[in-house]
Amino acid sequence: MRCFIFCCFFLLVPFVFQAGTLPDSNGISIVPKPVMMKTGAGQFVINRLTLILVEGHDEEVTKIARIFADRIRYSGGPLIEVREMTKEDKNLPAVVFARKLQHSTLPDEGYELNITTKKVLLTAKTGAGLFYGVQTLFQLLPADISSHNLPMSRKEWELPAVRISDYPRYPYRGMHLDVSRHFFPKEFIKRYIDLISMYKMNTFHWHLTDDNGWRIEIKKYPKLMQIGAWHVDHEDKPWGERPAQQEGERATYGGYYSQDEIREIVQYAADRYVTVIPEIEMPAHSVEVLAAYPQFSCTRGPFTVPPGSYWPNIDILCAGNDSVFTFMEDVLTEVMALFPSKYIHVGGDEADKTNWKKCPKCQERMKAEGLKNEKELQSYFIKRIEKFIISKNHKMIGWDEILEGGLAPEATVMSWRGIEGGIAAARQGHDAIMTPGSYCYFDYYQADPANEPKAIGGLVTLKKVYSFEPTPGELTAREARHILGAQGNLWAEFIPTPAHAEYMAVPRMIALAEVVWSPKSARNWTDFRHRMAAQYVRLTRMKVNYSKGSFKAEVNTEFDKKTNSVRLILGSEQLDVPIRYTLDGNDVKPTSPEYSAPVEIKGNGVIKAGLFVDGQLKEKATEMPLIFHLGIGKPVKYLTSYSDRYPAAGNIALTDGLRGSVNHRDGLWQGYLGNDLDLIIDLGREIPVNSVQANFLQNQRSWIFLPVVVEYSLSSDGKKYHSFNEVLTSISPKEDQVFIQPFNFQFMANSKARYIRVKAKNLGKCPSWHEGAGEPCWLFADEIVVF
Ligand code: ACM
Ligand code: ZN
Repeated sequence: MRCFIFCCFFLLVPFVFQAGTLPDSNGISIVPKPVMMKTGAGQFVINRLTLILVEGHDEEVTKIARIFADRIRYSGGPLIEVREMTKEDKNLPAVVFARKLQHSTLPDEGYELNITTKKVLLTAKTGAGLFYGVQTLFQLLPADISSHNLPMSRKEWELPAVRISDYPRYPYRGMHLDVSRHFFPKEFIKRYIDLISMYKMNTFHWHLTDDNGWRIEIKKYPKLMQIGAWHVDHEDKPWGERPAQQEGERATYGGYYSQDEIREIVQYAADRYVTVIPEIEMPAHSVEVLAAYPQFSCTRGPFTVPPGSYWPNIDILCAGNDSVFTFMEDVLTEVMALFPSKYIHVGGDEADKTNWKKCPKCQERMKAEGLKNEKELQSYFIKRIEKFIISKNHKMIGWDEILEGGLAPEATVMSWRGIEGGIAAARQGHDAIMTPGSYCYFDYYQADPANEPKAIGGLVTLKKVYSFEPTPGELTAREARHILGAQGNLWAEFIPTPAHAEYMAVPRMIALAEVVWSPKSARNWTDFRHRMAAQYVRLTRMKVNYSKGSFKAEVNTEFDKKTNSVRLILGSEQLDVPIRYTLDGNDVKPTSPEYSAPVEIKGNGVIKAGLFVDGQLKEKATEMPLIFHLGIGKPVKYLTSYSDRYPAAGNIALTDGLRGSVNHRDGLWQGYLGNDLDLIIDLGREIPVNSVQANFLQNQRSWIFLPVVVEYSLSSDGKKYHSFNEVLTSISPKEDQVFIQPFNFQFMANSKARYIRVKAKNLGKCPSWHEGAGEPCWLFADEIVVF
């Protein structure tokens, strides 16, 4: 029988906010948090007598002042004319917009705002800075400002007296949208740009081409629009189970943006200080091109545009055929004429080289160019395209695979398979943009899949996004300057409608907006959630279909070295919603104790915790077995890396006392993709040890297999390890159930150790009978229990 011994509530962390992390006074809730803000006394009131003035004759500033005046008007306020300031206006109550070219200390995108009872003065060096100042002004005004097309109903608009000096931490603050897997209308693209700019982000990465549809008009190649833009409509079927187009079936799902529409959107974005970066995928994710022009493949086809995914996708552009480069250069020429962006994104990700290995033209190219392998052939492809892009005075970005086989001379790397690509690029003196899956993929679940619409997988909670640090600590200051910023990615396989895109993007993109704008030192999860409460009111007025977040209790543990005790920490994404819990395995009820501070734990048990709204349990309670063992809270040295898609609690995950469920996405399982688990637990001093047990998960339909063998060894000094002990798997990888398998080892009597090394050998690649045959497979571990 498990028993749970716990002390009554330990007030270990007094619930007091530090100075500067309080929810902003005077009800001010600005997101992203400004660099410097000082509140004053009183308010400035805007009414029909208020002047909106522009200092000097400046068309750009006038346009921005009009954005402010129009919003007041369209939200039900008075109609106020914008005009140039004269000497006589000097002492009148006014909102003044001014460009200060001599603003020496303020960065280009920064602004200063000074609101007193008599005047509002917004200054910046650039239009972008003024535009961001206007976004701050909107957030300072009452929430009515976020309503649209109200009748003239609100006569007075109050702005609190405040002084703000603000500028971004990173120059690149982006959001991506995939319009190939699902097509989104032009109106939604504009709304997406509105959301980007509202939170002071400045880049829209438009993923315009992919296997499932070509989405940009290219005049020279009409079949891209006639054939490449359409696939057979299987919207009623799950994404991964859609059959390819059959003889006689018509391709009716899709569409593309005309060049006029593209120009309109680019201008719409520019008016909001958002740069649109187009992405044209190559050499892979391009079967829709091959459906239209099979001569650009290695095999000559025929191909159809797939209505869903198939994997691996071996049909990619031929790298040995010069006409492929002519085609791409023609396409890019039209693209560059439409997009003033300095950057052009060329994809470069996930190119399966199967066909290149067999294609005489590709092989001939490798020989002629002295390329050692197909990775170098991909590098050749990308370098050749970069040369063309540079010749047209643009710069190239690619996904981090462009590092393989040698980076193109001036390429910027978008690091998505973790942050390693960004680190490697920065160390080679190249710019990088961070968009690692485990923090920045907003197509992943944002809460327990049991309560969420179907998503692609993974789990990226709001808190996780908010915890992202784009600049890796291991970079030198010089290398760190190459980290331009970060971006949230919205891949659309599981996002069929604009409303659903909003649900997946918001509020996670707002958390990321703060990560890339506000100083690192200003980041505070509690404070952010308080400020977000005001944003949700505004988003509701804008009818944004944002996610209401999870009502799931988060369970964590913390080890106190001094007292050698483990504390249970409960939390959630919600503010001010009571969490009730039990520790004895009984279900949580409205009468169970309410959590208020960390609780000390001294034995095994089952933690159950849930959020209660109006006295009712809101979502299924979180349930977690806790094992109280010798390794709990002890540091772990990792000799191999876990995947950032399934890090669980990171470096403490395997010694936090918490065991995972059969749901591999429960946040307790640590995943290793293709590689082994190899780590050393440091018990702090040499102590008697009896046994060690690691659990592993099998869920072969999710490509998760048990290890082939687990090896345990002991050491007293961390140098010499004794008695490598092996536990072999006797269960077939084919076993179709989802189950947890313990790997136990009993040490010899009187064994002692300070260090315990655990090695679990990954099956490596999915077996030949498996749908992922030859692809790296997963190894999933939770707690390593030492007794
Ligand atoms: C990617 O997610 N394939 C860049
Ligand atoms: Zn080829």
